[in-house]
Amino acid sequence: MLFHTIKSRRSIRRFKNQEVEKEKLDILLKSALLSPSSRAIRPWQFIAVTDLELLKQLSLCREPGPKFLADAPLAIVVIADRALSDVWVEDASIAAAFIQLTAQDLGLGSCWIQVRERFHTEQEKAEEFISKILEIPEQYSVECILAIGYPAEDKKPYKESELQYQKIHYNKF
Ligand SMILES: Cc1cc2nc3c(=O)[nH]c(=O)nc-3n(C[C@H](O)[C@H](O)[C@H](O)COP(=O)(O)O)c2cc1C
Repeated sequence: MLFHTIKSRRSIRRFKNQEVEKEKLDILLKSALLSPSSRAIRPWQFIAVTDLELLKQLSLCREPGPKFLADAPLAIVVIADRALSDVWVEDASIAAAFIQLTAQDLGLGSCWIQVRERFHTEQEKAEEFISKILEIPEQYSVECILAIGYPAEDKKPYKESELQYQKIHYNKF
């Protein structure tokens, strides 16, 4: 049940030393391609990174950095052509969320690493650093990196009784 998957998904930052199978990677990427986008423009593109040296370099994209990425077997970098759509951020975010829920459904853990609006150094944006490493053409912005792999940490699913129900409104605020 999708709701069970949603309740069980937690950010996973420790991964087993185990590859993500090609069949599962294909499903993750197809889920991204199936995500909705404004006017069906689909401005996003996805870079699946499995090269361990590249993963190590990407883990240095921010200071303080997402060090755990160096020990993940897989990252999916979500980028978008900002000239194609004024709402590329929303489109890219939805695709990333679809990937995270699919990962959970496949028994994988994941964690979103924020890239947009973040800095590698005071002078260099995280996305400039990443674009150099992955040879991403200039017209693309980097939204986030998803670290993905088999979980090596046990996180409890959320409890329905602890949800912030005060944030729900009916009809009027
Ligand atoms: C937009 C966004 C940006 C995030 N950025 C980071 C990040 O840069 N590094 C990180 O370790 N986790 C990041 N996270 C994961 C959040 O910290 C995490 O979702 C939150 O603490 C709730 O925990 P949960 O995912 O286990 O429910 C991000 C999540 C979102 C949605």
